[in-house]
Amino acid sequence: MTSTRTSIHGQWSSRWVFILAATGSAVGLGNIWRFPYLTGENGGGAFVLVYLFCVVMMGIPIMMAEILLGRRGRKNPINTMHTLAIEEGLSPNWRLLGWLGVIAGFIILSYYSVIAGWTIAFIFKTGMGDFVGSNADQTTAIFSELISNPKILLFWHTFFMFLTIYIVSRGVKSGLEQAVKFLMPALFILLLVMVGYAMSTERFLDGLKYLFVPDFGVLANKNLFSDVFLPALGQAFFSLSIGMGAIMIYGSYLSKDSSITFNSFVIALADTGVAILAGIAIFPIVFTYGLEPSGGPGLIFVSLPIAFGQMPLGTFFGCLFFILLMFAAWTSSISLLEPAVTWMVENRKMTRYRAAYIAGFIAWLLGLLTVLSFNHWAFKFSFAGKTYENGLFDIFDVLTANIMLPLGGVLIAIFTSWLMSRSSTIDELGLSDSIAYKIWRFIIRYVAPLGVVVIFFNAIGLFS
Ligand code: PHE
Repeated sequence: MTSTRTSIHGQWSSRWVFILAATGSAVGLGNIWRFPYLTGENGGGAFVLVYLFCVVMMGIPIMMAEILLGRRGRKNPINTMHTLAIEEGLSPNWRLLGWLGVIAGFIILSYYSVIAGWTIAFIFKTGMGDFVGSNADQTTAIFSELISNPKILLFWHTFFMFLTIYIVSRGVKSGLEQAVKFLMPALFILLLVMVGYAMSTERFLDGLKYLFVPDFGVLANKNLFSDVFLPALGQAFFSLSIGMGAIMIYGSYLSKDSSITFNSFVIALADTGVAILAGIAIFPIVFTYGLEPSGGPGLIFVSLPIAFGQMPLGTFFGCLFFILLMFAAWTSSISLLEPAVTWMVENRKMTRYRAAYIAGFIAWLLGLLTVLSFNHWAFKFSFAGKTYENGLFDIFDVLTANIMLPLGGVLIAIFTSWLMSRSSTIDELGLSDSIAYKIWRFIIRYVAPLGVVVIFFNAIGLFS
């Protein structure tokens, strides 16, 4: 059966705008901040290899499924799951999957905004020349001073949350579309400039080797599942923005004649490309200047400024880099807020404006806990065999990326491949009953759910 629904929130002007918006959602702090530090913490090349495996075998197929559901339901993720479940003769409780996503979105946005705040603070620090000629100790000191000051973190967190609310309150066309058109290409070019600088450093090849040649010796005293597989899986979901309804809501604004398969591959390729480029830009600097790859969430904030302090026109490039990173974070944060806002508009009959402010305020409040995680309330804890340093921030991060998003993704996979009728998915994907469709269906039925379950339960030690 073909669905002819339309979204009350509008539609993208073209398939390219959808691709840009979804890429805008996918490419963000996850690629440039989170990917390098996780790679550095979890074993370099081996982590990258497992990450790429997760993107291909779970990320892309689940992204296709999520867009498919969004476009078929044409509502916020909660109502979409409710409507589609009823249509397929299933329990309306599937709407809880939508809720899981909305809640994950709030939690991610709450800390995402704080980290985006670091980025804004760094626009000014680089722009004022604070890093000119500085070494690793100096950049590390500047970063530590920033995160130990809750007032400044709070200020930039508030500022960034306003930016997010502002765009979401303006709606799909005038808000979301305009933001992504120019910023993504600009960020990409600037990353290439950074890679150019990395090539000029002494230890460029060591950086490449670290990223691309798995050193299995490093893994000897690590637990493969909890130290490599689970963080890589979580990073794949986080980076592709899947498992929580962001891509679903963007899919709900996609026109019927656009190919979900093609779009998903383009988005995943762009997202992965940016993450890898970020890695190539950062690790040579990390090695050349004697930083620790396992330095944690501060990694890009202590490594890149050294490069900006040394390279010609570094103040200019550094400032521009952090501006673009802020924009990349912005085009992601709007997609974190959008599912909740559309729910409030559809079910609580609020104006988009009001809904955006209320939802944004809740995420802002929650963000205060992250602001304090790096200073007054910092504490250590262990989960699934790993120790974390930054209290509540790490709890939120692990809870969402390593648990909620994969869980959401598995449920999306099960819903589309085991429960929805074959004809509905064939119709929506537009692949007819071809080989491509069969491959997708096989992966999403067996490989993706089993992969997630095996990794997760092994990581928390259930099978050992
Ligand atoms: N994908 C975004 C990034 O990499 C973060 C994000 C996660 C956005 C989940 C939406 C949903 O920065």
